[in-house]
Amino acid sequence: MNLLAKLPEKERKIIDIILNSCDEYKGKIYIVGGVVRDLLMNKDVKDIDFLIEGNAIDFAKKANLNIKSQHEPFCTVKVEILDQEIDIASTRIETYQYMGALPTVTQTGVNINEDLKRRDYTINSIAYNVYSNKIFDPFLGAKDIQNGILKILHKNSFLDDPTRILRGLDFKHRFNFKFDKETYFLIQKCINNFNNEHLSIDRIYLTLNKIFSFSYSSKILEDILDDEIYKIWLNKTELKKTEIKKLDEAKTIFGVEEQNKLYICALESFFYIKPKFNNNYEIYEFFKKFNNIQLALYYFKTQDKNAVKYLEFKDTKPLINGHDLKALGFKQGEFIGRILKSILKEKVLNTNVFQTKDDEIEYVLKNYSPE
Ligand code: CTP
Repeated sequence: MNLLAKLPEKERKIIDIILNSCDEYKGKIYIVGGVVRDLLMNKDVKDIDFLIEGNAIDFAKKANLNIKSQHEPFCTVKVEILDQEIDIASTRIETYQYMGALPTVTQTGVNINEDLKRRDYTINSIAYNVYSNKIFDPFLGAKDIQNGILKILHKNSFLDDPTRILRGLDFKHRFNFKFDKETYFLIQKCINNFNNEHLSIDRIYLTLNKIFSFSYSSKILEDILDDEIYKIWLNKTELKKTEIKKLDEAKTIFGVEEQNKLYICALESFFYIKPKFNNNYEIYEFFKKFNNIQLALYYFKTQDKNAVKYLEFKDTKPLINGHDLKALGFKQGEFIGRILKSILKEKVLNTNVFQTKDDEIEYVLKNYSPE
């Protein structure tokens, strides 16, 4: 089977360049992971991960590729081909010293099947040799793709790297797949036994930011609450599955574009104080330091309509500026700032108070005089 025929022309050209750049490595070049999975599923490919059964840095040098950066300990290299940055990794063995910690590379340049063993799901543990067009699928991932099954490779996989649970939820909803029975059992076991003392929290947030950016992410959030998956990195959350709709409503009202940040904060925030406001200017002063995510969260938590009201006047500004005031004889400095603030206050309290710049000037001359 020639999987590469399914790739867009540019990607095929890139593979050709890599394949024909160094005879010594010709038979040792693979594509691996998401790209092979997506090609087998006839889906569009996002990015191609290359894998060298040997030393990727040595390969890139001998192949005379345009090296952008290299990482000696993992023996990975970033090159630029046809204006595109391409990651090339070396086959490697990884071990985890502690639950959830970053892995340690113990050997590079190993046999392709050894490398595939360090991966997460069977559907992501398939390699394709671009020279022989042969598929390496020791865990029968292609069959799991056909059956829509998410299966982990070994029983310590989630304890090694619990971000795999989060990644699994993404694949579940992205492809409409199911966890196999044993894998689902291991997720629950991991949640109940996980010790997060050495957890790489950066890795958790990197994964959360990714999996909460999709149109289907609210379903992932539901699963995180249903199965208490948040316990990997949080002691508790106050967010309830039944509130997700309300959270999405707040997201829309306040035009939140970074859904990922909103979901992460919603899982982690506990309470908000709901103050008493006497007028619109107090509302303005209270909310002016809030960004859209904070506004959405405040409204989600308190259902205080004053946050929505704030949107009516949040962009209010005086029509006159410091230059206009200087032209009227006012001296630069704190006094001008106070005058502009008082115009703003009048406008927030009553949106129709001034129609034109002249109205504002009239107000200034009536209430203030140049020193
Ligand atoms: N991988 C893994 N465990 C992780 C992250 C990644 O085993 N925690 C392996 C998988 O084999 C995965 C590959 O590294 O296929 C590349 O990971 P990444 O690019 O993050 O994801 P993809 O599987 O390519 O999926 P996506 O379509 O989301 O990019």
